[in-house]
Amino acid sequence: MAAELSSKFTVGGQELKNRIVLAPLTRSRCEVTEDPFDIKNSLPNELHVEYYSQRASGGLLISEGVQVSELGWGWMCAPKIMEEAHAEAWKPVTKAVHEKGGLIYMQLWHLGRQTHSSFHPATNKIVSASDVKMAGEAKTITGEKVEPETPVPMTKEEIQDTIAAFVNGARLAKIAGFDGVELHSANGYLIDQFLQKRTNKRTDEYGGSMENRMRLLKEIVEGIIAEGSFPANRIGLRLSPNGVFGDMGSDDNNVMFPFVAKELNKYGLAYLHVMDGLGFGFHNLCPPVTMYDFRKVWDGPLMCNVGLTKDEAKGMLRSGTTDLVAVGRPYIANPDLADRWINDWPLNPDADYATWWQAGIGAKGYTDYPFYEPEKSAEKKDE
Ligand SMILES: Cc1cc2nc3c(=O)[nH]c(=O)nc-3n(C[C@H](O)[C@H](O)[C@H](O)COP(=O)(O)O)c2cc1C
Repeated sequence: MAAELSSKFTVGGQELKNRIVLAPLTRSRCEVTEDPFDIKNSLPNELHVEYYSQRASGGLLISEGVQVSELGWGWMCAPKIMEEAHAEAWKPVTKAVHEKGGLIYMQLWHLGRQTHSSFHPATNKIVSASDVKMAGEAKTITGEKVEPETPVPMTKEEIQDTIAAFVNGARLAKIAGFDGVELHSANGYLIDQFLQKRTNKRTDEYGGSMENRMRLLKEIVEGIIAEGSFPANRIGLRLSPNGVFGDMGSDDNNVMFPFVAKELNKYGLAYLHVMDGLGFGFHNLCPPVTMYDFRKVWDGPLMCNVGLTKDEAKGMLRSGTTDLVAVGRPYIANPDLADRWINDWPLNPDADYATWWQAGIGAKGYTDYPFYEPEKSAEKKDE
């Protein structure tokens, strides 16, 4: 039977109550602190509890990107998952989501070359696969927009430390009560920087061939499975083969990314989350990679994202092109987006860009969007 938005689905042995997923959204709502190195600016707080529990009618929630290591850090007031205190602070979030019958995965994030050395005074450097500088602008620890810096290629030791940081992040996410983790391998962040030809010029076993470019990702997956906090079927993966964000895009992405999916089949991961839509920017260097390209090679659950309207999401599900639909921007302004889509209720006006990831504005544009009230709307019609 063709899937609908309201159809149940199983991921990692857990039943999702519908097919609608909250896409990962960095919202910078951790506390602003005077000292930028104060741990408080990387801890979720009561606003996060409210924000995620408001959105629990979705079949699955994916958290905002959560930074796993010191070198991976580069976004002020976005959370981290590096020590026990971080796990403790996330506990009320997962508890509140579970109490509302929701499921939540933590997205594990390392910024790679998209950070700035001011975040790393101990080493005064930024790292990536290779010394390929990003175009555009970087942000310093005090929020100043500056020319991006040239990253230092990671040493083998730093690669091993990074794998350990992702494994530690998954371990702490489990302690925090998350149902699983999603590896942020999209949008030009560290794992993507290793995957793509544009940013990976290495000549060792982490660069060159497609096998080599995906070695870091594979070793992170294997490390998490070996550590044992989450089995393979609770580890999701996000890819952005078409994206331009972070100055990305390579002429072999249409070959590389289906290859990555095929190679990962053997692990039996939770899902593959693909940003195939072009509405977050398209690099135009090779044909766009579609959900169908992944359907042909990927054996597990597929999640689709970018620019989906309700009708497009319905069509993708009915045609079997995807199993799950992830929604980002419309979910910002509609905490009950899943109920609204399933019941054909109208949406709130779009969120103001100024509130997307602005630190220090608290609940404004974060937890203050109204839920739809069918009774009220019926009363209005009767007037
Ligand atoms: C405010 C904002 C924050 C985002 N933060 C993240 C993030 O932390 N991790 C990630 O993988 N993608 C992030 N994205 C991308 C979204 O998950 C999503 O792919 C994008 O918004 C396109 O989907 P949409 O058209 O449904 O909004 C962010 C997007 C926005 C608008």
